[in-house]
Amino acid sequence: MPRFDISAELTGQIQLTHDIFLLTIEAGEIADAATPGQFCMVEVRSAHSRDPLLRRPLSIHRVVRGKKIAFLYRNVGRGTRLLSRYSPGERLHVLGPLGHGFQMPSGHPAILVGGGLGSAPLLFLAEELPRDSRVTVILGARTGKELLSVDQFTALGHRVLLTTEDGSLGRQGLVTDVLSEVLTHGPDSRPCIFSCGPWPMMKAVYAMAHKRGLSCQVSLEARMACGIGLCLGCAVPCRDGRGYLHVCTEGPIFNAEEVFWGPSQ
Ligand SMILES: Cc1cc2nc3c(=O)[nH]c(=O)nc-3n(C[C@H](O)[C@H](O)[C@H](O)COP(=O)(O)OP(=O)(O)OC[C@H]3O[C@@H](n4cnc5c(N)ncnc54)[C@H](O)[C@@H]3O)c2cc1C
Ligand code: FES
Repeated sequence: MPRFDISAELTGQIQLTHDIFLLTIEAGEIADAATPGQFCMVEVRSAHSRDPLLRRPLSIHRVVRGKKIAFLYRNVGRGTRLLSRYSPGERLHVLGPLGHGFQMPSGHPAILVGGGLGSAPLLFLAEELPRDSRVTVILGARTGKELLSVDQFTALGHRVLLTTEDGSLGRQGLVTDVLSEVLTHGPDSRPCIFSCGPWPMMKAVYAMAHKRGLSCQVSLEARMACGIGLCLGCAVPCRDGRGYLHVCTEGPIFNAEEVFWGPSQ
């Protein structure tokens, strides 16, 4: 699979909430090669040093083929704080696209389940799903302000269901409450489920899919030093107990059946 290590001009940096940003860069080669679910390693540097040394992994949120890619990211620490200080016109070193993306459903309806920043890879997926797919998007967050990309999902014509923990937007509760209703009462018999969000949420989504024998793909995160299979630092245990999955090369998108979700799975 082609990948590119480029110096990219930053074309947009929009602060969406107190800690969430939408970053756009000129990266035509990566935009052309990327598939939904893939990620890039982004180098962030303070002005006068090579620190932090390691690049940070970010999912590809959107592409304009031949031109741009966008990342949706939360400022959680040193690297992402530095990233949030970059301005249009500055340049970033970006390596990508990396990893394996989502496998597209053939002829099946799709249910996308995103918690918090889960919209990061799911919007690209929603944009690339076959035009005739029936798509339901279930988005959840703690509060309405933290629900991301709602207008963009809606503009695609998909059914979008919202849920917040505090009830400030959409239905009060968790994405899994809505997923349970959609699976029980929905018209679609064999939907494929795609999920990204916090681990306990994806674990619960997987459990619901497994119980019904449905296909479920998840986007996993792990601390990454290299992003290309060299350091073996991104390992997560396999379900069968016989080894590890490497998130950067074998993922970040996995069939949820392959993952060891914890003792009570
Ligand atoms: C394949 C992949 C795709 C990702 N896509 C996105 C995305 O689209 N948007 C986004 O905001 N974030 C994404 N992440 C997570 C992002 O890479 C981390 O938040 C980022 O590297 C943190 O760097 P930092 O220097 O700001 O934080 P640090 O100072 O290194 O750490 C701050 C806190 O964040 C936690 N943390 C750091 N890295 C990770 C990680 N990889 N996974 C889970 N927790 C971590 C640390 O444990 C610590 O608590 C992705 C991670 C992976 C592996
Ligand atoms: S991050 Fe180095 S092997 Fe996956």
